[in-house]
Amino acid sequence: MMIMMKSVALVLVSFLSLSFSTPPPPPPDVLKWTELEVGMMYSYDMVSFTSQISSNTQYFCLGVGGSGGSLPPPSLFNPTLIDTDNWLNAAAAIGAKYAVLVAQHCSGFSMWPTDIKNETGFEYTYSVKNSPLSKRGFDIVKAFIDSCKSHNILPGIYYSLNQNYYLNAGRGIVKNSELVPGQAKVSQDLYGQIVLAQMKELWSNYGELAEIWFDGGCSVPGISDNISSLLESLQPHAVYFQGCAKSNNLRWLHA
Ligand SMILES: *[C@@H]1O[C@H](CO)[C@@H](O)[C@H](O)[C@H]1NC(C)=O
Ligand SMILES: *[C@@H]1O[C@H](CO)[C@@H](O)[C@H](O)[C@H]1NC(C)=O
Repeated sequence: MMIMMKSVALVLVSFLSLSFSTPPPPPPDVLKWTELEVGMMYSYDMVSFTSQISSNTQYFCLGVGGSGGSLPPPSLFNPTLIDTDNWLNAAAAIGAKYAVLVAQHCSGFSMWPTDIKNETGFEYTYSVKNSPLSKRGFDIVKAFIDSCKSHNILPGIYYSLNQNYYLNAGRGIVKNSELVPGQAKVSQDLYGQIVLAQMKELWSNYGELAEIWFDGGCSVPGISDNISSLLESLQPHAVYFQGCAKSNNLRWLHA
């Protein structure tokens, strides 16, 4: 009797250790992504054109504006020698198989000519469309994706939905603080509509993406399911860094 009990216990122990040591396999799209191994990320924002960059590169992300707290005007964003082929030459040189562009970071300045007025009723006037680049008809996201394709590197897009200094939002929430010059007032509901409409543009207009970066998760209240269905219908085979879809999410690596 004693011996039988022992073997039952042993079977139980080995069953438990088996179930803890073999997590479910990653989804096929995530497995494919791990095989790419080397990727490169390009971060570009209004902050590149301000003098604060040396003292605090994060200042928009922390909700602190430019000089006197103001939002730098879109006219300040004026790259005269931009050459995305040159950017991708660097990625190819290190053997990168995919590359991610920050299409919008904490300032809220959009690297593409966002046009969401019909869908949201709000005219978003903080993008390349409102900068000197518009005279050249330049869409940095499109140029970047075209350069990825010609270098045979898979493209990805980062979009900051949680932080947006132009719309006075941090961690997904529109703040009640008084606006500084250049900021626009939106309600929390409208903010949700705006970020959804912008993600729809980015995920519809530039072809298939290998990776989509959320960064910091999907903190805007009440729209996680909307984001998840948009991803499912527009970019079902991308992987999502800190995303909120039902599958294909990647998480931050910790030692
Ligand atoms: C926005 O709506 C107007 C009026 O209905 C239409 O003429 C225009 O083509 C629409 N623009 C976009 C980008 O959908
Ligand atoms: C999110 O999806 C729900 C359910 O389909 C819909 O009622 C709601 O209007 C959507 N929210 C936004 C901001 O589009």
